[in-house]
This record gives sequence, structure tokens and C-alpha cells, in this order.
Amino acid sequence: MTKQKIANTFGIEATANRLLEYASEEELLQLIRSGAVTEPYLHVGAGSNLLFTKDYEGTVLHSLIQGIEVVRQDDDSVDVRVGAGVCWDSFVDYCVEQGWYGAENLSLIPGEVGASAVQNIGAYGVEAKDLILAVEAVSREGEQRLFSADECAYAYRDSLFKRPDMKRWFITRVHYRLSRCERFTLDYGAIRQTLASFPSVTLKHVRQSIISIRRAKLPDPAQLGNAGSFFMNPIVARETFDPLLGQYPSMPHYLLEDGRVKIPAGWLIEQCGWKGRSLGRAAVYDKQALVLVNLGGATGADIVALSDAVCRDVYRKFGISIHPEVNLI
Ligand code: EPU
Repeated sequence: MTKQKIANTFGIEATANRLLEYASEEELLQLIRSGAVTEPYLHVGAGSNLLFTKDYEGTVLHSLIQGIEVVRQDDDSVDVRVGAGVCWDSFVDYCVEQGWYGAENLSLIPGEVGASAVQNIGAYGVEAKDLILAVEAVSREGEQRLFSADECAYAYRDSLFKRPDMKRWFITRVHYRLSRCERFTLDYGAIRQTLASFPSVTLKHVRQSIISIRRAKLPDPAQLGNAGSFFMNPIVARETFDPLLGQYPSMPHYLLEDGRVKIPAGWLIEQCGWKGRSLGRAAVYDKQALVLVNLGGATGADIVALSDAVCRDVYRKFGISIHPEVNLI
């Protein structure tokens, strides 16, 4: 059997026994009916949140479903139904071109629409869940279902679709609601400061500002293999946080509605002296410590060794466990 190369933004060489791509629900149902979707299988998007530690001895599925359809609109908002295989940033660009508000802060996030609904991608004060109305999916048994946003149980970088028993559902389309009335989220980090160099606050200028902030902080996978944030920001109880803040008064943090506190893992990692440091062919990115990079020729095991060393040091110094956001295969 010819092994198939699996694309991933970490630039790690990895193969699967078989790659099945489909461009419509009908093609997916056909694959299911023909018995081609055999265990074990793994459904992927653009490979921007995956780390292969070995070749995948099974079938990889990938949606190529395209299309952005308006399904409802009024003066205030528009509902669109988008194919899981649409490039996320092309969708954001389309929204900005149409004058639809809501997705612009999520500009330049690598990956595809289907993954946005699994991962609840987020940046600069906005998460995919703020826009998602419903998710269409097909099960491995060929059942078709529409999941409401509530059913999707969205939380920080989490959803129903991340549960192991949900791996049998393949997302085919995502429904989003965008605003047709001006509505920006500009209070995160350096957005306002960056926007100040533009003559006015418009959708296009917000998108350009976000793109320039990301380009300054995050490595381009085409140049330096990476999967964006490698770790999730840890969320701790107030009782854990208060003494830490006493010890490290400059520790950045965000209070959550439920009383817990989110601490930027990038800061914790930097305090441990890991920012810019390497271990073999893997390194902690020098402009954003939350990102691990492949210096060229790294294996998945090299990245995991670095990740383990970083987690261990963060735990030793702060007593906080940090966990990968990236899916290890
Ligand atoms: N910080 C440091 N050192 C670092 C990195 C960050 O001290 O090396 C501090 C910053 O000074 C700041 C705070 O940590 O006070 C937060 O930093 P930043 O705004 O860069 O955001 P983040 O929490 O590190 C998250 C997302 C990013 C997203 C940014 C912006 C996660 C896991 N990551 O990073 O998402 O772009 O916020 O909203 O939540 C991704 O998921 O791949 C991703 C890049």
C-alpha cells in the first residue's frame, strides 16, 4: 500500500495508510456506504493544530467541502452556511469584503472552517463560538445532524466535538451569524494602538491591524514550522492564584466570570527562561513563548521532548500544570 503524506504546519514528515478526501456530503456518504472509512481513522483539517509523533497507521479523512451561502439576513445580521473545507482566513476576508462584522479579530488564524467549530478558535477577545449558530455533521454510520451552538458546549478552546465519543461525527458545514451593524472588539492588547496608524476605524483597517499584530508576534508556518499556541493558557482557582500574585505581582491575568483566573502560559514559560531557547531541532519561539517551532528537521519526538521540559519547569516554579493545545497524534 502506498503511504500518503499528511500536510501539517509543523513541517513534520508524517504519513497515513490512506487519505480520503471528499468535496460534498454525498461523496462522504458514498465513502461511508462503500466501507472505506475503517478503524482506526482520524479526521483532519489543514493540519495547523496537529503534531505527528509517528506515522498514522490508519485512514485520514479530510473535507474539501466549499461554499459560503447566505441563508438568512435582515438589517441587523446575516446568517451564513460555510463548507468545512473553506480556508478560515478566506472566510474572514469574505466577511470583511461584504461589510459583515464579527470575524475580523480572527484574521489570519491558520486552518479551515470545520476545525474552527471543533477547536473554538479564538484571538484578540473573540472566539468562534461568538459567531457559531449551528454545526452540520455526518456520522460514521451515515446519519446527518444539525447541532445547535448550545449542544456544542463551547468553552475556551473546547467543544463537544473534542470528546472521544464524538470522533464519529464529521463536521460538514458551519453556520455563523455576523453583524451588519458596526460592532468592533478593540480592547484586547495592542489593537487600538495599532489601529491609530490608520485614518479611520473600518472593518478592513481592523483586519489589517490584526494581521500586522499577528505577523509581528507569530511565526509564518511557511518559514518556520509551528502550530500557533502550543499550550493552552491555564485556568486556576482563586485560592491558587492569590498567593502566586503575592509572590509575582507583575503576573498578567484575566478574571473569568466563574471566579477562576486565566494566566498566560507564555508569561509563565518566559519566566522559566525558556523563551528563545532550543532543545535539539525544536525551540520556544523568541517573540511568543507559547509557540514551539521546528527549526528544520525536527521530529515530533523532538517537539514533545521540548514540551515536556517546558511543562516540568513551569510546574516546578509555579506549581501550575500547563497542557498542549495542539493534538498529539
Ligand atoms: N506574554 C509574555 N511572554 C510571552 C508571551 C506572552 O509575557 O512570551 C504575556 C503578554 O505580555 C501578555 C499575555 O502574556 O500580557 C498574553 O499574551 P498574548 O496577547 O500574546 O496572548 P496569549 O494569551 O499568549 C492567546 C491565544 C493566541 C491568540 C492571542 C491573542 C491561547 C492558547 N492563545 O495567546 O492564539 O492569538 O491570545 O488573542 O489562548 C493560537 O491559539 O494558536 C493562538 C495564537
